[in-house]
Amino acid sequence: MEAVLVKDLHKSYGKVRALRGLSFSVREGEIYGLLGPNGAGKTTTLKILVGLLKPDRGRAFILGHDVSNRVEALKNVGYIPENPVLFRNLTVREFLEMIGALRGLSREEIEEGMYRYLELFELEDKVDEPSSNLSRGMVQKVLATAALMVRPKVLIMDEPMAGMDPESQHAFKEEIRRLSKQGVTSLISSHLLDMVERLCTRVGIIYRGRLIAEGTLKELREVIGEDSTLEEIFIKLVRGGGEDLNPGEVSD
Ligand SMILES: Nc1ncnc2c1ncn2[C@@H]1O[C@H](COP(=O)(O)OP(=O)(O)OP(=O)(O)O)[C@@H](O)[C@H]1O
Ligand SMILES: [Mg+2]
Repeated sequence: MEAVLVKDLHKSYGKVRALRGLSFSVREGEIYGLLGPNGAGKTTTLKILVGLLKPDRGRAFILGHDVSNRVEALKNVGYIPENPVLFRNLTVREFLEMIGALRGLSREEIEEGMYRYLELFELEDKVDEPSSNLSRGMVQKVLATAALMVRPKVLIMDEPMAGMDPESQHAFKEEIRRLSKQGVTSLISSHLLDMVERLCTRVGIIYRGRLIAEGTLKELREVIGEDSTLEEIFIKLVRGGGEDLNPGEVSD
């Protein structure tokens, strides 16, 4: 079964056509990198997947559940939003306990999951701090903890490593790889192409609301040229606007 399936999504904000027939799918256990320039439609896509936005047309599924049926579809999902927001008046512990409780975890599961990831991110000593006292990177780590501790089968992450220090980025990537081996699927939007190149098993490049290329790094290199880095591939594809590339991959 596809872990994530996006079919012909269209979404406009007033006159701005953010998605114009976007389709792609992610298999179970894959680590899929969603790339694209600013404004390409990545966040819009991820928000549709987690039920925060409704598409104008098209459908999206997570583990076979239509995301318009939010409760069923989101049971197995961990989400890291683009804009880091926490409840300022809650401590880290209170915030994570609330997330765990909303997801139906037991007290023991919450405690176990929370400390496992706070330790991974070296944040245990902040557990009783109000969220408003945290640095930007620390907030990002709490959000990552919240997404990971619910034992998701599918992780949907919008620029998850923004602001994280190198050690935590490393720990985070290792954890994504470990989870992938257990069948957990990751869909990651990012501009950190070096990271994507090393971590992701497949990438999709979105440009103006459409998929212009997709494949493993090896497959993309076959189109652009051997030895190219993901950065070179990205720039070449986006400059070309996908016009003359892989018509089979372009969803129209
Ligand atoms: N709430 C909104 N109201 C109006 N326009 C919006 C809104 N959210 C996004 N857009 C527009 O939709 C398009 C796609 O935006 P989106 O946030 O999905 O891009 P993105 O690929 O995530 O970009 P970035 O790399 O900068 O995060 C852009 O043109 C953006 O200006
Ligand atoms: Mg975005």
